[in-house]
Amino acid sequence: MADQLTIALSKGRIYKDTLPLLEAANIIPQEDPSKSRKLIIPTNHENVRLLIVRATDAPTYVAHGAADIGVAGKDVLMEAPSDNLNELLDLKIAKCKLMVAGPKEAKPHGHRLKIATKYIQSAKAYYAQQGQQVDLIKLYGSMEIAPLIDLADKIVDLVDTGNTLKANGLVPEEHIADISSRLIVNEHAYKTKFKQINDIVEKFRAAI
Ligand code: ATP
Ligand code: PRP
Ligand code: MG
Repeated sequence: MADQLTIALSKGRIYKDTLPLLEAANIIPQEDPSKSRKLIIPTNHENVRLLIVRATDAPTYVAHGAADIGVAGKDVLMEAPSDNLNELLDLKIAKCKLMVAGPKEAKPHGHRLKIATKYIQSAKAYYAQQGQQVDLIKLYGSMEIAPLIDLADKIVDLVDTGNTLKANGLVPEEHIADISSRLIVNEHAYKTKFKQINDIVEKFRAAI
């Protein structure tokens, strides 16, 4: 009997884009998380299940071994401690860029630059590397509002099409990192369930 295998995914774009990869590994979810309220989803394999978690929580489930493997954005991984987990594959899904953005016409400010972001660690590292002292303001979403109502001068956020920035009168200014989602694995599970996990990794790799 194969071991129980638990896979952490977030609903939305990561689930949608991971589905074809799961299919390539012959893992077929038995329910659609966009329709079901169930958070533990069985698959066509009795011993394989999916956990539907918040995108930012996927590395936590995997690091603690509550999930054996998972999918998380590089943006999220750059913020999270990497103890007990390994990044196995770049899945090349949910691609976007982490950028600094600000108002089209920057207002003069007589203070240290204020940056609103969900990405405190990445922003801190970026400005340290630039040799620039800034004040960081933690937000959990809708960062684009911050410069419009003078909560901050600029934001550090994800940009894909640029539509969200444009709709809010902001422009992309500086590129910090290219982002895509990664297959992550719990270090211990990778040893004890190597064959099972490696089989999925190879099928994902072939399907990317
Ligand atoms: P939560 O706030 O619930 O944790 P989230 O906003 O981080 O959710 P998603 O919007 O589904 O969740 O984003 C998941 C991942 O997809 C992000 O971590 C990022 O890597 C990537 N992503 C986010 N926004 C975009 C986008 N507009 N285009 C492409 N990829 C994106
Ligand atoms: C993400 C991100 C940006 C937007 C960028 O938000 O936080 O706001 O996408 O994409 P764009 O350049 O194509 O407009 P998302 O759609 O995930 O909404 P959220 O606020 O629910 O996270
Ligand atoms: Mg989002």
